[in-house]
Amino acid sequence: MKIVKINELNDNFNGQIVRLKGWVYNIRSIGKIWFLILRDGTGLLQGVIVKNECRPEIFELESKLNQEDSLEIEGVIRKENRSIGGYEIGIKNIKIINQNLEEYPISPKGHGPDFLMSNRHLWIRSKRQNAILRIRHQVSKSIRDFFDFNGFTLIDSPIFTANAVEGTTSLFEVDYFERSAYLSQSGQLYQEAGASAFGKSYCFGPCFRAEKSKTRKHLTEFWMVEPEMAFVEINENMEWAENLVCHIIKHVLLHCEKDLITLERDLSKLQNITPPFPRITYDEAVDILKDNGSNFKYGNDFGSPDEVLLASKFKKPLMIHSWPSDIKPFYMKRDKNNNNLALGVDMIAPEGFGEIIGGGQREDNINLLKKRISHHDLPLEPFKWFLDLRKYGSVPHSGFGLGLERTVAWICNVKHIRETIPFPRTMGRIEP
Ligand code: 4AD
Repeated sequence: MKIVKINELNDNFNGQIVRLKGWVYNIRSIGKIWFLILRDGTGLLQGVIVKNECRPEIFELESKLNQEDSLEIEGVIRKENRSIGGYEIGIKNIKIINQNLEEYPISPKGHGPDFLMSNRHLWIRSKRQNAILRIRHQVSKSIRDFFDFNGFTLIDSPIFTANAVEGTTSLFEVDYFERSAYLSQSGQLYQEAGASAFGKSYCFGPCFRAEKSKTRKHLTEFWMVEPEMAFVEINENMEWAENLVCHIIKHVLLHCEKDLITLERDLSKLQNITPPFPRITYDEAVDILKDNGSNFKYGNDFGSPDEVLLASKFKKPLMIHSWPSDIKPFYMKRDKNNNNLALGVDMIAPEGFGEIIGGGQREDNINLLKKRISHHDLPLEPFKWFLDLRKYGSVPHSGFGLGLERTVAWICNVKHIRETIPFPRTMGRIEP
């Protein structure tokens, strides 16, 4: 008999005898009947064990089984709208695969976040964490699909690098055979090489930032997708960012409805995410803040409360462009009509989830780029290869980086980013 997965069950199985393999999620008893909730990694299924309908030794397992014992069950599938997933199984036989020697540490009762994070390797088995990480998988898949369908070539950026990209304060330095190397903060510079070689390229991998902040939006290791496009200027870059986000949301609504419902996500908020997204300048964003009683100082970067206030004025992701060049990285191109403005764009997610995208048009003039590298107190030597990209066939080009975890946090309506990555790395945590 074939082993069936819980997420494969459909009406064709009604009345059929099937076998499933999985783990005990929960057990409860009401005298002559007991219920076993089976977990198999694809979903949960309620099993019913009735005293007079199975062998006595099977009925007696109620007092012997514990949460997370592994087993194989056999029984008849019944359509049952009141049950989790819409089906239940009348269990006739149970074969124990393994019984735990000690009590499973995570009970269905509440635990504090620190305890759960310390048991992250086990916690990811729970229903809510399963739903979040399944959605993360689908978000990743939709990102890859988007770029693959749109003619981008995947060019993996290295993780060991010789230079900073996003400022020197958040660099992780590592010992690299008697010289220093840094864990990559962003794969962008290598994608600029990729865009000149392939027209459109992207990388999708982990990035590292020695963030000393203990906020709910920062990890020290996070995943970023970074497309880069030759012959693309800032406005078209914003269109790509908008289209990517719409594609992700559409895909998740199509493939993850059950998981979103498990998370009690308000689907209408996601269904509303269609183009066009509002686009405002930095100056206009400052005006909105001021009009709403903020004492924001012009020239600063927006902090979390500023982003929350700005997002509250819009129902869709908000794109903010035309930034004071002083607060943007060395590689950003300046506005030809105002040298104090950089052609950067940030996308702020709705509902207070903060910035999910940072990007912009790149400086393509070699002399200006050299000047900026020096102005940012960065050594020229490690950027020699990068400057070659301007020396040979330089063209206007743009790109952006979308943070996977912040995007998943927004889609799932999860307040803390640490739940959106299987094994989070933060200032205070490197285990499990
Ligand atoms: O705005 P950032 O720093 O942009 C760059 O790194 C560019 N080089 C990308 C590019 O143009 N190719 O980061 C981009 C995004 C942010 O909007 C955020 O979503 C995410 O990366 N991010 C973080 N996510 C979690 N933890 C952190 N410490 C993050 N830092 C940035």
